[in-house]
Amino acid sequence: MSNLAQPLTQPRPYLMNAWYVAALSTEVDAQALFHRTLLDTPVLIYRKKGSGEPVAMLDRCPHRFLPLHMGDRDGDKVTCKYHGLQFDCDGACTHNPHGNQHIPAASTVPSFTLRERNGLIWIWMGDEAADESKLHDFGPLTEGPETGVGYTNIYVKCNYKLILDNVMDLSHIDHVHGEIITTRGKLSPLVPQVRAVGDAFAARWEWSQTPAMMIFAGFLPDPKAEARHFFDITYLMPGNIQLSVGATQDAGAPLDLEGTTGQYDLHTVTPETLTTTHYFFVTRRNHNVDDADFNKMKIEAMRNAFVDEDVPLAEAIQERMGVSADDFFAMKPVLMSNDVAAVRMRRTLETAIAQEQARTAASEKAAA
Ligand code: FES
Ligand SMILES: [Fe+2]
Repeated sequence: MSNLAQPLTQPRPYLMNAWYVAALSTEVDAQALFHRTLLDTPVLIYRKKGSGEPVAMLDRCPHRFLPLHMGDRDGDKVTCKYHGLQFDCDGACTHNPHGNQHIPAASTVPSFTLRERNGLIWIWMGDEAADESKLHDFGPLTEGPETGVGYTNIYVKCNYKLILDNVMDLSHIDHVHGEIITTRGKLSPLVPQVRAVGDAFAARWEWSQTPAMMIFAGFLPDPKAEARHFFDITYLMPGNIQLSVGATQDAGAPLDLEGTTGQYDLHTVTPETLTTTHYFFVTRRNHNVDDADFNKMKIEAMRNAFVDEDVPLAEAIQERMGVSADDFFAMKPVLMSNDVAAVRMRRTLETAIAQEQARTAASEKAAA
């Protein structure tokens, strides 16, 4: 289903047989011919009439290669703007208005498998059959009222691994972020505690600061007083980091989302190209969950913190690293104690990519 008849760029240096976020559910309305480049591949996404189920195909007509999103919808079919070839939502050509109206055998558009989960549209673009067992479940994002969860996305001009590095190494918050989420210098002296979680891994920080992180302080008994905090992040290939964070002034409370005023977040990245990234962020808090105005203000404030404080650094690093941003170790970086989780993330992902590429090469050789 998802095979590209003609790969657009070779080799594609990503983990291909995996799920990536293609869009927020809210980005693709009932009518739109939504389009976005993912993994160097232009993709058309739209929702079927009736069921609203999203479908995806290569955003390129097989005739003269016009983007299909420039065409028109007719029910669940798309008609190319240039010469009127028509395709169904599986990418099969259903009408050729020219000559004897014969439909050429090669006129199928490659399609991709989508799944909609947790308010996100996930896409599988690999050559192997889409593997449902690899689709991660971030269920807590969708448990609770809509006024307790915020979604956003940011287009960043850097390699996707630089965003993952940033979130895997939360010590940067001490140095980069302003009052809204500052950790007041408390994370840098800590060595994150890394542990295996199934075939993934997690990292954890625990600390106290005065006052608490501003996003939580107003919901604690004494907003100006010291509070114990935790961060717990789990890296799930290829581009997902589930981050939990919370604060408490109850000396006996466990440092988890049950025991603290906190939030369950997902940071997930999808490469557009090797030097540009679609960065999606979702946050579900466990307090003040029915306040729609606060919800709107909170997601905007967090987005602004990323856009104003993280993104300029990531884009400046991209400038300095160039194509090596994808191959960080080749630049022989200085490594410090704060790098432990980010280095493990890079090694985990790069090993998986190398294994996948070896598998692909072996099967191509066998087929030759
Ligand atoms: S380019 Fe699409 S029909 Fe010609
Ligand atoms: Fe940050």
